[in-house]
Amino acid sequence: MTKHWKALVGLAAIAWAAAPAHAESLTLASPDGRITVTVSDDKGQATYAVAYQGKQVIAPSKLGMLFAEHHGFERGLAIAGQTRASKDTTWEQPWGERRLVRDQHNELAITFRTATDGPAREMTVRFRAFDTGIGLRYELGPQPALEGDIAIVEELTQFAVGEKTTTWYTPADGFNRNEYIYRMAPAGEVETAHTPTTFRNPDGIYMAIHEAALVDYSAMSLLALRPGNFEARLRNWSGGPKVKTKAPFTSPWRTIQIASDAVGLINSDIVLNLNEPNKLGDVSWAKPGKYIGIWWAMHINDRTWASDKYHGATTAETKRYIDFAAKHGFSGVLVEGWNKGWDGDWFNNGDLFSFTEAYPDYDIKGLSKYAASKGVQLIVHHETSANLTNYENQLEAGLDLVKSIGSNNVKSGYVSDAGDAVWIDDKGIRHYEYYDSQRMIDHHMKVIREAAKRQIAMDTHEPVKDTGLRRTYPNWMTREGARGMEFNAWGSPPNPPSHEPMLAFTALLAGPFDYTPGIFDLRPNERAPVRPDMPRGDPRNRPQTTLAKQLATYVTIYSPLQMAADLPENYEKRMDAFQFIKDVEADWEQSIALAGEVGQFVAMARQGRKSKEWFLGAVTDESPRDLSLPLTFLEPGRKYRAQIYRDGAHAHWDTNPYDIVIEEKVVSGGDTFAVRLAASGGVAVRFIPVK
Ligand code: NOJ
Ligand code: CA
Repeated sequence: MTKHWKALVGLAAIAWAAAPAHAESLTLASPDGRITVTVSDDKGQATYAVAYQGKQVIAPSKLGMLFAEHHGFERGLAIAGQTRASKDTTWEQPWGERRLVRDQHNELAITFRTATDGPAREMTVRFRAFDTGIGLRYELGPQPALEGDIAIVEELTQFAVGEKTTTWYTPADGFNRNEYIYRMAPAGEVETAHTPTTFRNPDGIYMAIHEAALVDYSAMSLLALRPGNFEARLRNWSGGPKVKTKAPFTSPWRTIQIASDAVGLINSDIVLNLNEPNKLGDVSWAKPGKYIGIWWAMHINDRTWASDKYHGATTAETKRYIDFAAKHGFSGVLVEGWNKGWDGDWFNNGDLFSFTEAYPDYDIKGLSKYAASKGVQLIVHHETSANLTNYENQLEAGLDLVKSIGSNNVKSGYVSDAGDAVWIDDKGIRHYEYYDSQRMIDHHMKVIREAAKRQIAMDTHEPVKDTGLRRTYPNWMTREGARGMEFNAWGSPPNPPSHEPMLAFTALLAGPFDYTPGIFDLRPNERAPVRPDMPRGDPRNRPQTTLAKQLATYVTIYSPLQMAADLPENYEKRMDAFQFIKDVEADWEQSIALAGEVGQFVAMARQGRKSKEWFLGAVTDESPRDLSLPLTFLEPGRKYRAQIYRDGAHAHWDTNPYDIVIEEKVVSGGDTFAVRLAASGGVAVRFIPVK
């Protein structure tokens, strides 16, 4: 038994002795008293309910889980003990959306005991109440009745948000994993939803349900049990249970963020706070930064990943990118299509990818030396097409190669349909798993740990959603996990104008997103084709934004590795606007959501960790809007040169996307900054303190 478990079991034993014989209902309040959780064992069922400022936001909802062999925790439950604790500490992120994170919460751990269907068993549910929401998780200690393998067939946690509660979500079971356009519907009409799922109830209270610290378990999505009452639905193994485990174990935290306004959801750190501290020690090698890459050229059919005459990843082309990166201060150059395996149907031939052999026209060693001489790093690409066994077999050698060329960065990818992640067991049998199944969670953790051993940071595409694990493993720096910019090359339809202001209140609540912003040629599919064999895509596929909005997303979308996704030649034509991408930072001292409504608009302010300069970004959906933003984040009374990149008077994403005004004004901390955003427009501002 680990020390940790001994301590927990010890505590529980003391608590049982002290607990009242027939406790029925226990309450936990957040430090500011606004959030209360009430837990009960009424009628032998474990339930919890949540209120915000006295109004119920989660009606009594079940807790528990069912096992295949041992019976679980569903009926005949009685509260057998409780412990309470409080904490108020501040910890530091090596990189992040803010350097200092305050963890202030009250805790209540309740042990339920049951002897229904067999010998006595105990399950502890630990609740933490923060001022911005709650977390709860299951903890099963070692106990005679739960010896041996445990197969979780159902987690019973419910979230009764109410039928009429507005829900913003993507469906949980589609072939395209998390990459869907967001939907809005009353909760009563939602069948499945990925988390984070965002809500506004009829009292105008905002909530987001998600999970924290997803390890050794499968991912949770929401499944409607009854209209407006969701169950934590865990992804199953192919032909197997949902989770294979053994006691002792703890589940991931189920989190419910709660706020009186939409930006309150963003200004909350509960997901990070519910993760374990950094396990990697000094991670100064996991460096935030900005990068460019041989990437968009393939998505718009200028170049190929395959080794034909349009091959993008050639030595000459990579040098051109390295030169551009060095000239404009980018730290990384991503190169996709460098390795053998892309020729043919790479989507389905994941077993052909090599992670150690470069195509002959790509001099990986020479290029890494060339890059190093210019102060730039190659970001090595590992597309797996979700063939887990092929990648796992080569993982150590592939990462060794990355290390040997002096790189600290890998971008990986798992292109495949949602249930098609393949692995081959030791009998040679192929299994197809969901991308968010326990097998896949285990795979990602294996990759993260092997990468960490070699001081490599990961940027995972087609990933499992972030659950704050970047706190524990700061080398899991960023990921995709929602519809990215690539959909604007070939998405049919592309991302709608509401997408960026939607992301801020949904997917981004989970963590950083490698959205790959910064497209300057906003009609890429209308140019003359470069490859006769491959015409341009549908011209309707294009970023549905103004140019100013492209810049603003560097502030509204957080990623510690932030790409400038367009071709160097497109930036060369607009060096005036490109200046903002050169100036903006990717690592922050602080981040503040200033104003916004889900899917309509969002305004963010962030202070650069290095320069201490402030940056502001705001984006809107299809509706133009006037914003008045109090500059309260600036030092009161201090003067700043504000370098403003805003939509021009006639800007419109569809008819006039390039109408941009770039100007400088002097402002003071405490002033109000008034600006008009065009239809699907935006504004980006850099504030330089006047000496
Ligand atoms: C999908 C990724 O999201 C994208 O960035 C990458 O270019 C392709 N897969 C190819 O690996
Ligand atoms: Ca993708």
